[in-house]
Amino acid sequence: MAKVLDEASRKRVADAVRYYRDLGIYDLYRRETPAGMLDALIARQELAASQAAPAVAETIAAVAEEETSMDAQPSAADAEKIAAILNDKPAALRVIREDLGDCQRCGLGATRTKLVFGVGNPGTRIMFVGEGPGADEDAQGEPFVGRAGQLLNNMISAMGIRREDVYIANVVKCRPPQNRAPERDECNTCGQFLMRQIAVVRPEVIVALGATAAKFLLAASDSMANLRGRFYDFHPMVPSAAPEHDPSFRTKLVVTYHPAYLLRDPRQKKETWLDLQMVMKHLGMALPKREAGHSGEA
Ligand code: URA
Repeated sequence: MAKVLDEASRKRVADAVRYYRDLGIYDLYRRETPAGMLDALIARQELAASQAAPAVAETIAAVAEEETSMDAQPSAADAEKIAAILNDKPAALRVIREDLGDCQRCGLGATRTKLVFGVGNPGTRIMFVGEGPGADEDAQGEPFVGRAGQLLNNMISAMGIRREDVYIANVVKCRPPQNRAPERDECNTCGQFLMRQIAVVRPEVIVALGATAAKFLLAASDSMANLRGRFYDFHPMVPSAAPEHDPSFRTKLVVTYHPAYLLRDPRQKKETWLDLQMVMKHLGMALPKREAGHSGEA
């Protein structure tokens, strides 16, 4: 699909594409997707590319291909940075928090009380990603501390682990007014920091809670019923200038229902528990004995 440019033009245009990425413009990325969604994503990328200048269009495709290639490797200098990050993940997360600063990159900065960065064990095997802070989180500066958070805690303990064992973050770090869903540009702007958090934590499995997290992380648009119940290969799209940028990192992602949705429709707890058991099996975690053989209650 991608035509190859000569080396100098390719580098010039690749630098431009990376520059836009570093500004948080992610829409031109192609991410690994389930087979059923690949055609739609390619169509979207081709549409975006067709609206760009021809040389850029070719390079967008080539850079995206390079970024998602299974053979992509960090340069020696990047490999050194990554080794340092893995050696001290809490420090690397502090750098991301400092980069966010008193963030006013989108309108949510004006109305928040506290920016909600993320919490938990940076060395975890499991990371949960929600949508954005609600009123309780906005007041306390910690994700999932309200009613939905209580249910998330129960879901985590049903897995035989504790909240402190996992890492929890949101797509957007500031509360959307009246708890509305975050807008697409808010997700794109703030989501680059989530991508960096993922690239530092390097969980073996990401659990995307609800449609906002699932759609943002997978760059997909489908119903929750279709998205859940399977593993996706996931590569966090980290700005190339960020120290965590590592084209070789891949992990697994699972989509399940958001705890706030489960509070409204508890019938879906059964499906959610199946998703969590899938994660546990993948990680070789023992199913709690009382749950083995029936669907359990999240
Ligand atoms: N809902 C979310 O998506 N995130 C939170 O932190 C709290 C509620």
